[in-house]
Amino acid sequence: METVLSGIRSTGNLHLGNYFGAIRNFVKMQYEHRCYFFIADYHSLTTHPTPGDLHRNVRQVLVEYLAAGIDPEAATLYIQSDVPEVTELYLLLNMNAYMGELERCTSFKEKIRKQPDNINAGLLTYPVLMAADILIHRAHKVPVGKDQEQHLEMARTFGNRFNRLYQTDYFPEPYAYNFGAELVKIPGLDGGTKMGKSEGEGNAIFLADEPAAIRKKVMRAVTDSGPAIPGEAMSQPVENLFNLMRAISSNDTVDHFMDAYNKATIRYGDMKKQLAEDIIAFTTPLREKILEIDADNDYLSKVAKMGAEKARESASKTVNDVRRIIGFRGF
Ligand code: TRP
Repeated sequence: METVLSGIRSTGNLHLGNYFGAIRNFVKMQYEHRCYFFIADYHSLTTHPTPGDLHRNVRQVLVEYLAAGIDPEAATLYIQSDVPEVTELYLLLNMNAYMGELERCTSFKEKIRKQPDNINAGLLTYPVLMAADILIHRAHKVPVGKDQEQHLEMARTFGNRFNRLYQTDYFPEPYAYNFGAELVKIPGLDGGTKMGKSEGEGNAIFLADEPAAIRKKVMRAVTDSGPAIPGEAMSQPVENLFNLMRAISSNDTVDHFMDAYNKATIRYGDMKKQLAEDIIAFTTPLREKILEIDADNDYLSKVAKMGAEKARESASKTVNDVRRIIGFRGF
């Protein structure tokens, strides 16, 4: 059985893009593989969040993943900072991560541009911490987007370098897990092709959004002004609306509006009204679940504790093995 591991950024509420892009697949995967899902709160310290924000964000992400269907009994769902073994492996891996390769990392260069007043060593060694996250469970598959592929490659480099240095095959090579055909890309509402919280206000629909907010965002979604012109290609914003509808609404609904589009009788206002109601029908049970879990602190605390225990079992085994391989041995 393969070990699959995914690190979840500890900021931001889940939106439909996250849901259709990854989470729905995690929910399926958790019964087919040995899955580790963790909230990367150590990583978030590179931007110096306030203690209140840090805590709130981690809690929110945990609540929403549970609400979206991650089963803490099936998968190992944990908070990174509950597993101190990660930091020990991080320290050990730092010894064979070279300055040059860390400085050349695209995400580091981007960060120093974005936060020139806070170029801390944690930013530089971010890929080492991420490698520790992955290698600590000796994961084979890591579901990541394009933006994380370089980090994953670095995790392979550090693992391989360790193996070579100590003449072992202890760490397997982790590779990106591609959902392939399972991956449904959700467009943004701003006419762009990607739903994301950093793409601007109103671009993303969050699982926790109230119906009124959803209606407002959908009604304001970019479309083109005029009716369809027969023979001309569909514009990107309109295609986005149809793609969103394909993910959310029934086939009959999609067919109805497609037909209207082809006949050039479509009114985008009507289409958006329908889309908004279908999104609300889809997200309402999720929002209710979020509220329910959010109100149940005992449950959250039980889940976090169980996750930490399961993760530490695997992590401490790795750290013990690694210590022995390196030469830290008892007398
Ligand atoms: N860097 C990842 C991101 O920004 C989050 C992350 C941290 C991660 N550690 C990881 C992802 C380990 C996969 C595996 O999204």
